[in-house]
Amino acid sequence: MLCSLFALLCAAGFGTAALKRQHAYVDGRLFSIDGKTQYFAGTNTWWLGRLNDADINTVVSHLAETKLLVTRVWGFGNVNDDAAAAGSVYYQVLNSTGGYINYDYDTGIGRLDSVVKSAEKYGVKLILPMLNNWNDLGGINTYTTAFGGNATSFYTDAKSQAAYRNYIKFIVNRYKHSPAIFAWELMNEPRCRGCPTSTIYDWASSTSQFIKSLDSSHMVTLGDEGWFVPSDGYGDGSYAYSGLEGVDFVKNLGIVTLDFVPDAQHDAAGAAANKPVIAEEYGWPTHNNRTAIEASWQQYVLKSTHLAADMFWQFADSMPAVSNEVDEYAVFYNTTKGSDYDVLAIQHARAVLEKRTR
Ligand SMILES: *[C@@H]1O[C@H](CO)[C@@H](O)[C@H](O)[C@H]1NC(C)=O
Ligand SMILES: *[C@@H]1O[C@H](CO)[C@@H](O)[C@H](O)[C@H]1NC(C)=O
Ligand SMILES: *[C@@H]1O[C@H](CO)[C@@H](O)[C@H](O)[C@H]1NC(C)=O
Ligand SMILES: *[C@@H]1O[C@H](CO)[C@@H](O)[C@H](O)[C@H]1NC(C)=O
Repeated sequence: MLCSLFALLCAAGFGTAALKRQHAYVDGRLFSIDGKTQYFAGTNTWWLGRLNDADINTVVSHLAETKLLVTRVWGFGNVNDDAAAAGSVYYQVLNSTGGYINYDYDTGIGRLDSVVKSAEKYGVKLILPMLNNWNDLGGINTYTTAFGGNATSFYTDAKSQAAYRNYIKFIVNRYKHSPAIFAWELMNEPRCRGCPTSTIYDWASSTSQFIKSLDSSHMVTLGDEGWFVPSDGYGDGSYAYSGLEGVDFVKNLGIVTLDFVPDAQHDAAGAAANKPVIAEEYGWPTHNNRTAIEASWQQYVLKSTHLAADMFWQFADSMPAVSNEVDEYAVFYNTTKGSDYDVLAIQHARAVLEKRTR
């Protein structure tokens, strides 16, 4: 089954002991990480590449100490006008003549290099999305501003797709030997409102094949929110099950070059396709009742599902560079017994790691 799901991995000699030890891979509906197949808890730290080296190391060491094995960090940062963006962190300028990497150590790709290096040092793994559906930090809009088109034509626009693939190629080639990479993610929350679901399906198929051709040893995932269409037979016909965002969770499960699917309530669909499912983002915006509400969800995932992992949105640390970036969902690092961090991160991560795998 592993080989039929991972045709490219098998063809490339996947399965050598060295590779298995080094990179995380799919094992049934779970993941093998550092040689051990296990359930795990993780988190989101999208802003990690916006910090200096010392702060990156502090955050990553706290993740490691908490046993949050995997974190999601934005692998993109696009601007259209580098003069206007001077001084802020961005990785790429996109304009009518193409995409240009910002190689600066302090404000360019040096930041993502430091994140990867720190993750290697502390043994934490990263999911790196290559683009945002939303405008924050350089979304689809930065491609359409440079190359024309709009949020839905982006997926089929030759110029935008060529530039997007150039960026993917740059990132994948830069970090493909790193054991700190858990998976490449095509986009944060791709949507194509009003499009046939074949648009996202075709784009996700060909882009994931492209990534596997560059790097056959790391996993690839879509990054979608798990929208269903009515014919999938799940849900109650409400918006999330209507297909209006152009994403068909069940159909996309069939893409062989996508290794796992991140979403909250899709355990059954994942089981039918024999693929692991991760709840990649969940959170609660008010502090006073966050612990109780999120803990009940965590207990549900732990006791009543076979989701391979859950990753809360979002981890925070008290230094100013982090406090200034995070939103009302943030759970601040705090080792005091009974704090929300203790319950939702420290205790939960331990409980998940102890969950029996069969
Ligand atoms: C695009 O940005 C690059 C990098 O700053 C610059 O060299 C190039 O001249 C720009 N092209 C246009 C058309 O502005
Ligand atoms: C985006 O562009 C496509 C192709 O030109 C067009 O059919 C579609 O209506 C546009 N969508 C929006 C939201 O403007
Ligand atoms: C959580 O707290 C907020 C703010 O105090 C309140 O508006 C909301 O109703 C509470 N939700 C639950 C499920 O307790
Ligand atoms: C840590 O959590 C405790 C218990 O909830 C709380 O009293 C304390 O203020 C928190 N410390 C910080 C630095 O947030």
